[in-house]
Amino acid sequence: VMAEKNGFDTFMLKEIHEQPRAYEDTMRGRIDEEKQQIVLPGVSLTPEQIREIKQIQMVACGTAYHAALVGKTVVERLTRIPVEVDLASEYRYRMPIIRENTLVIAVSQSGETADTLAAIREAKQWGARVMAITNVVGSSVAREAEDVLFTLAGPEIAVASTKAYSSQLIAFYLLGMFMGQSLGTLDPVTSVEMIAMLERLPFQVEEMLRHQDPIHGIAEHITQQEHLFFIGRGLDYSLAMEASLKLKEISYIHSEAYAAGELKHGSLALIEDGTPVIALATQELLLEKTVSNIKEVKARGAYVIALALEGNTELEKTADQVIYVPRTYSLLTPALAVVPLQLLAYYTAALRGNDVDKPRNLAKSVTVE
Ligand code: G6P
Repeated sequence: VMAEKNGFDTFMLKEIHEQPRAYEDTMRGRIDEEKQQIVLPGVSLTPEQIREIKQIQMVACGTAYHAALVGKTVVERLTRIPVEVDLASEYRYRMPIIRENTLVIAVSQSGETADTLAAIREAKQWGARVMAITNVVGSSVAREAEDVLFTLAGPEIAVASTKAYSSQLIAFYLLGMFMGQSLGTLDPVTSVEMIAMLERLPFQVEEMLRHQDPIHGIAEHITQQEHLFFIGRGLDYSLAMEASLKLKEISYIHSEAYAAGELKHGSLALIEDGTPVIALATQELLLEKTVSNIKEVKARGAYVIALALEGNTELEKTADQVIYVPRTYSLLTPALAVVPLQLLAYYTAALRGNDVDKPRNLAKSVTVE
């Protein structure tokens, strides 16, 4: 077993460290360097068919659902096509409006989740075109979808998903750019910039993995806590949901992800002296707004750990601790910011002595509805 873990204590830690490779593998062969264009061999949508798509519905469960929330922002920004995201277990019971020009994108690491499969079947029955983003070749989801965009993260053993989630983000960047290039909603200048930034991500993740010391200290602080908050706006809010799920899954500490601007409408009542608040503030355009939310919780005694872009040191004045994330194109930031959040969940759970790879009550893939 030691050999399979490549010297790491757990599969989860090994998989966190495999992310630079997973990013490279997921991008490989999909970027035409000469034309600076995205090519997706598994996607047979023609430019005409892409132009006909009037709405996109994404369906997924758990961590894949959180990846789809990021995917929504990415695809909407790059294509201007409206996107809805549904939990697969909710989708078919809400009588969704599915038309022939609806593209349904099912996201599933395993490709075997029963809820996600049921959602695909519902969509197909109403005439939608179904695309899959999955990590497993030959899986049910891959077989039932018309188009497949594989994440090439390699096998994921730990129940808590890490490299599969982040590779799903890469898949969404590729898909959004592919469709945006085809529609002309993504201009060539931005496109060239984004491709360059995308290709830098694996090196930036590697660099981040080399500087984990501050995360240990923060984990030590959190292990003693009973509940905490993750807050953020925009993409940071989507990422906050995943960070919160990761922490709950393996550390068993209760946490809640909140849209930073929504706290004042109720949850602020739960902030007490010392309540840890992990504030994701990686979206430059929303920074000021998030900083004022950080001040709100600070005023009520919260212990604030902020996630900020390198260089935004002014956050040190408001937050108790700051974790820095390298700079990239704003839409790509979650693919970097997720790394310290995975490590934080990991070290917190490990300090509590939990079986990180096999958390209680959870299964890697749920094949019953
Ligand atoms: C299970 C796992 C989660 C996972 C979800 C969806 O509940 O414990 O980690 O996110 O299924 O799995 P999928 O394979 O469809 O991505």
